[in-house]
Amino acid sequence: MSKAGRLVVLVSGSGTNLQALLDASADPSYGARVVAVGADREGIEGLARAAKAQIPTFVEKLRDHETRVEWDAAIAARIAEHEPDLVVSAGFMKILGAPTLDSFPVVNTHPALLPSFPGAHGVRDALAHGVKVTGCTVMLADAGVDTGPIIAQEPVPVLPDDDEAVLHERIKTVERRLLVDIVGRMVREGWTVKGRIVRIGNQPGGEST
Ligand code: GRF
Repeated sequence: MSKAGRLVVLVSGSGTNLQALLDASADPSYGARVVAVGADREGIEGLARAAKAQIPTFVEKLRDHETRVEWDAAIAARIAEHEPDLVVSAGFMKILGAPTLDSFPVVNTHPALLPSFPGAHGVRDALAHGVKVTGCTVMLADAGVDTGPIIAQEPVPVLPDDDEAVLHERIKTVERRLLVDIVGRMVREGWTVKGRIVRIGNQPGGEST
């Protein structure tokens, strides 16, 4: 079997998507392994999960830098140290800048069916809008807020008594499975991007036209 793809996973919170990737990569046939976990803050469960799995971690806080441009360069350098084949933004609450986006393919996950309800409150906004179906989206990150080419989506029903927390948990159950599936397939099979159309399979990873 070829060498496992190297994943750097970025987190800002509970890290259950990270945990799903860690669990999946315990099986060598998954084809990818988490080589480092990065965060924009300390004291989060995502970092504790990485430590428990004995995965190297790094923290790059925005407030430790004079400007956003400096933070962009710093986080890109921290990521680069781990030579990733793919960066996974899994509940990472920052938009990555050009130094990262121009150097590595970045997969992002969002708890709504984009292009509806982008941004930090996708679940709350979908609930407030009264949609009856929402879901999750796995996309390639670009410089915008949840605007990158969509790789995969799955629907999740909104039930009458849902509040934000209950609905988010229902979405996350689907989101974790979808993210694990897509990341594994991208690393094992490669992908291409033509305009906004992403195709997985039989192609070199990250080739775009
Ligand atoms: C996910 O729903 C992600 O899409 C959103 O925040 C959640 C992160 O969950 N941006 P976790 O930290 O992986 O548990």
